Amino acid sequence: MRLKKYLLVIPLSISLGLHAQTKLYKEQYRPQFHFSPALNWCNDPNGLVYNNGNYHLFYQHNPFGNQWGHMTWGHAISKDLVHWTHLPIAIAEENGVMIFSGTCVVDKNNTSGFGKNGKIPMVAVYTGHIENVNQSQCIAYSLDDGVTWTKYANNPVLDLHKKDFRDPKIFWYEPKKYWVMALMFPVEHLVQLYSSKNLKEWNHLSDFGPAGDTAAVWECPDLTQVPVDGMPGKKKWVLQMSQNASMQYFVGEFDGIHFTNENPANTIYRPDYGPDYYAAIAYNQLPSTHLPTAIGWVNNWNYANDIPTTPWKSAMSLPRNLSVKKVNNEWVLMQKPVASINSLRKENFRLAKEIVSDHKTLSVKSTQFEMKLILTPSAASVSGVKIAAGNNNYFEIGYDAAQQIFYIDRSKSGNTTFSDNFKKAGRFEKIIPLQNKQLQLHIYFDNSIAEIFVNDGAAVFTAQLFPEPNNNGIELFNRGEKSTFSEINVWKMKPAW
Ligand code: FRU
Repeated sequence: MRLKKYLLVIPLSISLGLHAQTKLYKEQYRPQFHFSPALNWCNDPNGLVYNNGNYHLFYQHNPFGNQWGHMTWGHAISKDLVHWTHLPIAIAEENGVMIFSGTCVVDKNNTSGFGKNGKIPMVAVYTGHIENVNQSQCIAYSLDDGVTWTKYANNPVLDLHKKDFRDPKIFWYEPKKYWVMALMFPVEHLVQLYSSKNLKEWNHLSDFGPAGDTAAVWECPDLTQVPVDGMPGKKKWVLQMSQNASMQYFVGEFDGIHFTNENPANTIYRPDYGPDYYAAIAYNQLPSTHLPTAIGWVNNWNYANDIPTTPWKSAMSLPRNLSVKKVNNEWVLMQKPVASINSLRKENFRLAKEIVSDHKTLSVKSTQFEMKLILTPSAASVSGVKIAAGNNNYFEIGYDAAQQIFYIDRSKSGNTTFSDNFKKAGRFEKIIPLQNKQLQLHIYFDNSIAEIFVNDGAAVFTAQLFPEPNNNGIELFNRGEKSTFSEINVWKMKPAW
């Protein structure tokens, strides 16, 4: 079964030989329940769309090496967002035009006219990138559920003759019965919105920005409608985007022409406060019974090319269900890992309650697990959990109660010396007041990826770490007055590969 998967990617694996192929997904640092390409470089998720029972994941990919270059769309599908099957390369670089980020839709009404003999086309819109010269928007279509693609003969469909103009996100806007495309003017910090009846001719609707974090170029806009927690039937629009090493989001309304931010204009909200979550976009055309779901790239442009993994580079985040919640006067993005991940849980280790004055090492050891707990820190303590612990190394997930600061710290987590930028980016924090004196933690650790959902996903922290594999301890720690840990659950996780 496994070999079959790799046979589909034979062009990628030819140079490795059979012996190496059987070792794929067993390498040091390889995530076991996060998506990563079998071989070579990947960055942004692209073209997330649901079609005929399959979740499609396209992604920025270099078929020829383990560094960024020759951008092409890689492709995988899944029935549950947990187990993925690799498919052949979808849309390849050609004549010096790289295939940059974009999205996909199923054109059920054949608005594009690409459908033939009753076959429904999937249409991808991507940025055609000519290095240092031009970025324009192009389309391609598939009549076999996304396996093979044909580039539109009259590309580009939108060209403003700009060097930086990229990352189209398209979706169907039912009230006006047209397609909407969100696009970036990266340097100007503007999201441009366009509409189209046929995916080929696009009309400018409006611009949003500059706003929030404008310290770096804006990339990868994603405009998605999500439910409001606790208010059945109510929905808001979330605009997420990326800036060099982090993401930000705005919450408000979209009337088919303008997006209006309803959060305080001078506050920056981030879907992830860790260093390694980028270019996230949400699925198109999910069945109405599904919650909106986003996937991000687990890496950071400041050191992405240097991480010590081979023969692949970079992975995707766990797919996250999205909603918003009104907290005081702010809309907060709530993110929860999709429930299907629970199918990978193996044996369960539990501890009802533990009062810790210094530290407690759990008897369970693992570098591939899910953990839930409630922390009730004492007033003057710094307390939390150390994972990947051993030989004086650890990744610290902590709470400084006096300052109300939640933090992660990977400074002592293993190999940090492969890049100065990685070494510098050790600690990440955010003020998170306790709720009923408690902090709720939901941690996933997958060999080299830690994803931490705090307080039901009101804040998320994603970070890469590169520990020695035998540093697999899990420790509760406390400095200061004793703190209480309760409802501790650890599940070792089965590999999804
Ligand atoms: C974001 C990004 C996009 C671009 C792609 C190129 O990570 O820089 O703006 O389309 O990556 O690979």
